[in-house]
Amino acid sequence: MTLDGVQIDAERLWQSHMEMAKIGATPNGGVGRIALTDLDRQARDLFVAWSRDAGCEIRIDRVGNIFARRPGLHPELPPVMTGSHLDTQPLGGKFDGIYGVLAGLEIIRTLNETKTDTMAPIDVVVWTDEEGARFGGGTIGSSAFVRKYDVGTALGMRDTNGISVGEALAAIGYAGDAPVGGYPVEAFFEVHIEQGPILERDGVPIGVVLGAQGARNFRVIVDGEEGHAGTLPMTLRRDALLGAARMIDALNAVAFRHQPHPVITVGHIQVRPNSRNTIPGQVVFSIDSRHPDNGTLATVERDMRAACEQIAGKAGLRVAVEPVSQRNSIAFNRDCATAVARAADTLDLPWQEIYSGAGHDACNMALVAPTGMIFVPCEDGVSHNERENARPDDIAAGCDVLLHVMVERAGLA
Ligand code: GLV
Ligand code: MN
Ligand code: MN
Repeated sequence: MTLDGVQIDAERLWQSHMEMAKIGATPNGGVGRIALTDLDRQARDLFVAWSRDAGCEIRIDRVGNIFARRPGLHPELPPVMTGSHLDTQPLGGKFDGIYGVLAGLEIIRTLNETKTDTMAPIDVVVWTDEEGARFGGGTIGSSAFVRKYDVGTALGMRDTNGISVGEALAAIGYAGDAPVGGYPVEAFFEVHIEQGPILERDGVPIGVVLGAQGARNFRVIVDGEEGHAGTLPMTLRRDALLGAARMIDALNAVAFRHQPHPVITVGHIQVRPNSRNTIPGQVVFSIDSRHPDNGTLATVERDMRAACEQIAGKAGLRVAVEPVSQRNSIAFNRDCATAVARAADTLDLPWQEIYSGAGHDACNMALVAPTGMIFVPCEDGVSHNERENARPDDIAAGCDVLLHVMVERAGLA
């Protein structure tokens, strides 16, 4: 038996996106569904309900990763896995992450409808907190799965209100009891919108992802001293926010000192006490730094630390630059990439090789299993934005490619 003629249902896949996008819909057409909130629970519940309708067995592990399994004819074989995340940025879109989950579900629905059996089981996974918009680091579920850190560390991470991952999971009913990782996975494939402009510019529907750049995330704590905004002369102030502003500017300059440029972003800031007429005593801000070369990332970290310390020294402030998470740049498995290209050829879909600027759960999975990624174009290359969009044809094409690589790897019965 071959997969000849078997195609996913493009309309059903698109409608699933539109249905899922209602959970946390924002006024400008996007989605705000922060990890482990009640909105995340609703999205998870919908996925679980759809997966059960499709006959899947559901397993939830201790860090809240959800696995929907379509058993193969040989249930004892390691699963071929696909999936991504349902959480979004505070002002995110309908596709980043969600596509990878719903494409996995669409494959299972298609295999059911066409009564196509595989030898190995197929797992569709929803990873916990990929985005890192709440607890700092991101890819928490997949990091724990591949044992980058232990379960206790994952559950102990706290948001800015002091709520831990463990508490948040319990609150939404997704603190599962299955062990986290530690078993063989035959292969992992993730389909995702590109989140950049290259495929759209080149008019190519399929990106065969060869690797992803590395990232280092930090929390910077700047301590000065609170004071009265009306009485304390300018020369006597130790204004933490003024210092932080200078540091942010200096960090931007660090990015431009290196060729090719690393990307450095300060996207989150907290000011204490955050009052109009009190001189800010403390500021905590995030740094997200990324580059394809791990050596350059280390140099960039050194330069960023030096810049912050120099500014703090001059302004009578104290500064601490604390690492939050780190991911080396990775190369995906060559056989998986070849399989993606082969599937695109079979389907007569133009493809090109591409690298990922964003981080993905697949980057973690690449540490423990043969892993590949498939990209499709997104409108204007825009992502992490309410206006993130993609064409239904491209969404369907990426899913068809995923169907082929998953079934090839799982073996047709
Ligand atoms: C995930 O969206 C990331 O690359 O930060
Ligand atoms: Mn994503
Ligand atoms: Mn994202």
